[in-house]
Amino acid sequence: MDFTLNGKKVAYTGDADRPLLWVLREDQELTGTKFGCGVAACGACTVLMDGSPARACSTPMSAVEGTSVTTIEGLNGKVGEAVRTAWRELDVVQCGWCQSGQILTATAFLTEKPAPTEAEIKTAMDANLCRCATYHRITAAVARAADIAKG
Ligand code: FES
Ligand code: FES
Repeated sequence: MDFTLNGKKVAYTGDADRPLLWVLREDQELTGTKFGCGVAACGACTVLMDGSPARACSTPMSAVEGTSVTTIEGLNGKVGEAVRTAWRELDVVQCGWCQSGQILTATAFLTEKPAPTEAEIKTAMDANLCRCATYHRITAAVARAADIAKG
């Protein structure tokens, strides 16, 4: 089962039902992708699969074959860098547990929608939970990232 991970080819020979999250964290030692709920309900494990957000805790390796996966460790490009910069500028992070998922979700959203309204940002980020309640800073940072990416 071959897939691309942060730009590099990976050959996976394990159980096809194993969730991507554990391949990332255990096999690949990419621990930026977090385990939260394990049932696709919190967004802490969000990665990008072919540019779209995917919940790694609930994505079996059988569904990963042939795709290109990006984790927080491999995030780059104009929008990704703008999101990182905005997150730093606005000091978004509290404990940090949810933030990889937030950043990857925001990157996918802004790639599709470069000039969103506040309401659109809130809707797009709504399914990524933050137990530290950094929601106001996340909304502001997504708006700031849109401005940065615009140049
Ligand atoms: S750990 Fe995957 S959605 Fe919560
Ligand atoms: S920053 Fe702590 S869970 Fe979001």
